[in-house]
Amino acid sequence: MACAHSLLSRIASSDGHGENSPYFDGWKAYDTDPFHPTRNPEGVIQMGLAENQLSLDLIQDWIRQNPSASICTSDGISEFKDTAIFQDYHGLPTFRNAVAKFMEKVRGGKAKFDPDRVVMSGGATGATETVAFCLADPGDAFLVPSPYYPAFNRDLRWRTGVQLLPVVCESSNDFKITREALEAAYANAQLAKIRVKGLIIANPSNPLGTLLDRETLKSVVSFITQKNIHLICDEIYSATVFAHPSLVSVAEIVEEEENHHGVAEYCNRDLIHIIYSLSKDFGLPGFRVGIIYSYNDKVVNVARKMSSFGLVSTQTQRLVASMLSDEEFTDAYLAESARRLATRHKIFTMGLAGVGINYLKGNAGLFIWMDLRKLLKEPTFEGEMGLWRTIIHEVKLNVSPGSSFHCSEPGWFRVCFANMDDETMKVALHRIRKFMVQAHEAVVPAKNRRWKNSLRLSFSTIGNRFDDVIMSPHATSPRSPLVTT
Ligand SMILES: Cc1ncc(COP(=O)(O)O)c(C=O)c1O
Repeated sequence: MACAHSLLSRIASSDGHGENSPYFDGWKAYDTDPFHPTRNPEGVIQMGLAENQLSLDLIQDWIRQNPSASICTSDGISEFKDTAIFQDYHGLPTFRNAVAKFMEKVRGGKAKFDPDRVVMSGGATGATETVAFCLADPGDAFLVPSPYYPAFNRDLRWRTGVQLLPVVCESSNDFKITREALEAAYANAQLAKIRVKGLIIANPSNPLGTLLDRETLKSVVSFITQKNIHLICDEIYSATVFAHPSLVSVAEIVEEEENHHGVAEYCNRDLIHIIYSLSKDFGLPGFRVGIIYSYNDKVVNVARKMSSFGLVSTQTQRLVASMLSDEEFTDAYLAESARRLATRHKIFTMGLAGVGINYLKGNAGLFIWMDLRKLLKEPTFEGEMGLWRTIIHEVKLNVSPGSSFHCSEPGWFRVCFANMDDETMKVALHRIRKFMVQAHEAVVPAKNRRWKNSLRLSFSTIGNRFDDVIMSPHATSPRSPLVTT
């Protein structure tokens, strides 16, 4: 058959969307056999989705109590005509004001946000691509510390033709971004004659669930200023921080530096751009509310024009403006959401620790970065994929392998904990416990040659070092209230 692709553009024919990765394969495995407590109790539990479903009831209550915020109610219908007619790309002033105020609130009032710099977009996805279009040409590159959010490949690269170059971060220092790693990635790009236009970071990090400390952030800002390249800070999880320390936003660093020195010494604010969205902090990815907040006047101007390709509907803007302006609600929501996330995080991490699974200590995001290196049959990415297949097909949990986050070390997995109810979480923890117990049992008789081979057969894809895991000195073992029942 003639290649149908030749009829299409290069972008359409490429697989730049990234759907052919294990990250999305896991979602497909879930889609074909989704867990349901009664209809399909043996199905796959979705733990690959960074969604915050723990506090949607609070938003639902607010909507019920504020019917005029929606045009689909008798209290709001009078706004129908103004909402339905033409919208320009500036966005409703009430929306931009409310977003700017909310971004200030989340950062504890330590940074000011100017509503005239708020540009809307279709989620953080659209916002990130728009910024890439503003800053770089095809062939140019952005540096990105690894492990990183897999869809940065789609958002920054696919339609723009921009490249991503990893800054390799390592488990030996909890995947912190060091100046050496940044310099090495930059030097490699220069050797390859690739023009680096910027650095993109996610703070809090997806997949690590950790925050950048102030010193690291200052060092990052000083690095991009010295190299005269841009910094895109994805702060989509800025209010999804549920324990100390609190977030240090790049917005704070920008202001701090200018206040201290009058003229910024290590910080050129024209190079700094923040990405935000309501998809995580409010659990509203379906609303497609994305924000670009740039300190660069030209970027604000051009991004605003580009936002014509991904505006937020006027109805959504109206509702969001109304909700975010209700400070009593947002204060209560933020406190309760953090409390629920902290509780869920504690239950889940205690469950992991109880069966000897290590993880990176984090205090933000909707996921845990699990260290399953000791379960690998061999310390390679093939070994990681083997273990991942076992987890998907035998344990029936969709978790995401580190390789899909471009982690440089095999054996790390991201597991999401806020996209399910308490009962499903119990089932997931029960399956994890069963898996670890069976794996442990498989290795004990392995010391007895008579049993070794037959037992290995049933755990053929898993490693043989479970004793190490269970007995690891790093594995604190508080007993999980869930896994003991
Ligand atoms: C770090 C990061 N940035 C951006 C996004 C995309 O968000 P949105 O749904 O607002 O497009 C996600 C979603 O998982 C994310 O984790």
